[in-house]
Amino acid sequence: MSRTGYERLPMHTVPEPGPPRSRSRSRSRSRSQSLRIPIAVRSFDFTKLLKITLALAVAVILYTFYFYEPHIEITFYSRKWVNTEIEPVGQLAGCFDEGRISAEYNASRYLKGPREVEVHAGMGMRLGMDCYEFAATIPRSTSDMVDRPRLPPDERTQYHTYWRVDLAPFSERQEWMLKSFFATQDHAASRLVMWSNGDLSTNPILASYAHMHPNSFEMRVVDVPDLASGTALDGSPLLKTNDKKAWTDGDLVRLLVIWNYGGVWIDMDSLLTRDLSPLLEHEFVTQWDCYDKIYQPLNGALMHFHKHSPYLCEAFNVMATSAAPRADSTDWGALLYLKLWRRLLGAHIPPFKILPFCFSDARSCRLDNRLPDPFDGDDGSEARWWRTTKGGLQEGGDLDDALGNVFAVHLHNQWDKTFPKGGWVERLLLNRYQEKLAEREDLSTANYIT
Ligand SMILES: *[C@@H]1O[C@H](CO)[C@@H](O)[C@H](O)[C@H]1NC(C)=O
Repeated sequence: MSRTGYERLPMHTVPEPGPPRSRSRSRSRSRSQSLRIPIAVRSFDFTKLLKITLALAVAVILYTFYFYEPHIEITFYSRKWVNTEIEPVGQLAGCFDEGRISAEYNASRYLKGPREVEVHAGMGMRLGMDCYEFAATIPRSTSDMVDRPRLPPDERTQYHTYWRVDLAPFSERQEWMLKSFFATQDHAASRLVMWSNGDLSTNPILASYAHMHPNSFEMRVVDVPDLASGTALDGSPLLKTNDKKAWTDGDLVRLLVIWNYGGVWIDMDSLLTRDLSPLLEHEFVTQWDCYDKIYQPLNGALMHFHKHSPYLCEAFNVMATSAAPRADSTDWGALLYLKLWRRLLGAHIPPFKILPFCFSDARSCRLDNRLPDPFDGDDGSEARWWRTTKGGLQEGGDLDDALGNVFAVHLHNQWDKTFPKGGWVERLLLNRYQEKLAEREDLSTANYIT
């Protein structure tokens, strides 16, 4: 499952020695001021002096803030944690060695093959609408690509998601993720597998999807020890790791599922906004947020790896040889991807790609360029505000265009909240899903079953 960056800073829940507690801000300082106070003090008047000093301080602060933007960045990380978890790069386990790559993984294509679409711009893209504009450079669908990512002829791209039956009942709020999937992805070329830790087949909502989409929707129950067989975690006591919020548990399931079946992982608390298939020439995770936090830059709420990817083989080795993950931590998420990424560089192996933050999580950026709060009621003012502060967006560019460029909106759990009536999520996403689904239903009753 997924979560907000804020909730996920592990120090809020774990006592020292622990992972980073971080608080980001940064400051650019004005040039220093030299001030002289031209007042003759006859007898020492402490109160007066204090008042004058305060007044001057306020004046200096106002002056500074008027002419200079304060950027302050202060982060506190436990030294012990940095020494043990971050600094050592570690060795790969040999999953990329000649002869050890699975025959089911086409290394010459997936690791060295030519690519048509570039998924990263080489910059953090924190300024204005840069990230959204970059997202617009990705083709709208594979039919717009010269050499579309090919699958064996009768195979569909697998998309996987996971629902913990003990977290909450699967209801209409969760169903929006499914609707977003069927409204935005190519039914004929994809299949969504809804994993869970208990049987969901009697759930009326899910049963109706299974009925409507016999070839592109499937429910399956995870059997962790079975999924882990043949990996470095085979038989490991670590497989029993379980935590209330499904963080480490969900982190494990996503890697095991992708290892066994290959495909795209999408956290349940996401709404898809665009066809993901043009991204699939690459194996990738995503950027955690637009700040590129040095020890926590990566997120797996949206990821893609091929079946038996040597990247995942290495990930299981990192898990098997590191300290056990702490409950509610990102140890098998962000920290694992970072360790793996650095080991790959250490071994001079081209690393997996990192999608820019806005592709899947445009909520996690600056006030002036992140998506408005999905759960705040709005009367259109959010969208108007977005339009007036849109920076580089082209003529007519607004929140709607920005949403059309990115691939998903990650809602950071918040399952207890509902989408406000008339809010931007309803207007620009949910209503559109409904329209699209109605259109597709007409088509499919006429032509084909997906
Ligand atoms: C692997 O990919 C290459 C390049 O795309 C292709 O020529 C080759 O047939 C593929 N091999 C297999 C076993 O599919």
